[in-house]
Amino acid sequence: MHSFAYKDGSLHCENVDLADIARRVGTPAFVYSRKDITETLAAFRRALAPLDAHVAYAVKACSNRAILQLMARQGAGFDIVSGGELWRVIQAGGDPALCTYAGVGKTEAEIRYALEQGIHCFNCESEEELRAIDRIAGQMGRKAPVAVRVNPNVDAHTHKYITTGTSENKFGVDIARIPQLYRAIYTTMPNLQPRGIQMHIGSQLTEVQPYLMAIEKVAPIAMELKELYGIEFWSIGGGVGIVYDGCLESGAPEWWREHPEQMTIESFAAAIVPLLQPLGLRIIVEPGRRMVGNAAVMLTTCLYEKRGEAKLFKIVDAGMNDIIRPALYEGYHEIWPVKEHRGGTVTADIVGPVCESADFQAQDRQIPDVKPGEVLAEMSAGAYGFSMASTYNSRPLAAEVLVDGDRWQIIRHRQSLQEMVQGERGLEEG
Ligand code: LLP
Repeated sequence: MHSFAYKDGSLHCENVDLADIARRVGTPAFVYSRKDITETLAAFRRALAPLDAHVAYAVKACSNRAILQLMARQGAGFDIVSGGELWRVIQAGGDPALCTYAGVGKTEAEIRYALEQGIHCFNCESEEELRAIDRIAGQMGRKAPVAVRVNPNVDAHTHKYITTGTSENKFGVDIARIPQLYRAIYTTMPNLQPRGIQMHIGSQLTEVQPYLMAIEKVAPIAMELKELYGIEFWSIGGGVGIVYDGCLESGAPEWWREHPEQMTIESFAAAIVPLLQPLGLRIIVEPGRRMVGNAAVMLTTCLYEKRGEAKLFKIVDAGMNDIIRPALYEGYHEIWPVKEHRGGTVTADIVGPVCESADFQAQDRQIPDVKPGEVLAEMSAGAYGFSMASTYNSRPLAAEVLVDGDRWQIIRHRQSLQEMVQGERGLEEG
């Protein structure tokens, strides 16, 4: 996270002091670095330049309009999973013709909307879904571009809730059934146009080996489909992991831990390019986490310190409703005080105000001995942070801020209580 570093004892995002943002916007607040996001997109493009490659940002990672605008203005495509995400992309000025639409449960209304908007391709997950799209496209007098998501049955070595490419998962179609399914599309679904093939084996992959295994398995089939049906692209999905542990690379205080070597955009590209280049297909990549994950922190204020029988708790004003990754995936996020500490550390649980034992941000964590009133930054919070937030416990959604050099702007104001209950209606009889 080159965009986050201590300067003069205070944690900055680019050139902006995070303490200033916390003071002006309050906490919890997500703070994104524009530079980080722009540079990451450029890095993907640079690394994949030997291929006819296209980056389709996975909107689910962070779907704030300003972030989508950033992507759209740089000509990125989008990997979407709902009509709502397509709508957001269009609102942000994104091109529907650069959208690929994934997901196992597309509704009829969503399929119609996507066809009306002229998306690049439906990435389909079952024969039943293909038949539904064929029927709807026929009714609309359209030809629907489709790709089938192949499940290569490869273990991505990631958390069980974010692995997607094994036979145990609900995603994709078993690799053995792919040739016959394309034949069925070609011969029995006249309103579909097979345009590509897709796979996505999991998220937060830290090693390239599972990709290589999946690519080696799927490549012969992709070539066969190209010859038989003229498919144009192969989307290899997202999944490139980020460093959560030891995420500051400059200005790090002494208690910073070295992070192990892991896959980078460059090492990922260097490994896959030689396998993909000879195929002569356009390659789509769908990064979500790697595009925005390290580009943001979530600011939270320490409210209380509580010494239990067995543990020391630092109670903060952000809960599992603001960022659910630690509770749901045992996700690890570094937690740094915004004002740098010189003293020693303590072992504590960092917990939120939500009435659930799973409402923790860190457990048995060695951290500086922060005191009530101090602001903390939960690092690498840009992906699946705000986008998975809820108002559980009637806690309004946090604010979001975008930093650009020494300037910053609010890209989502903190939800008001009124906004939180908008849409609710009281009993009719009063
Ligand atoms: N393409 C498809 C078809 C996907 O299902 C996903 C993510 C992506 C691309 C983007 O994957 P990424 O590059 O972000 O790894 N909420 C979880 C992650 C869920 C990922 C779901 N699919 C977490 O916080 O770890």
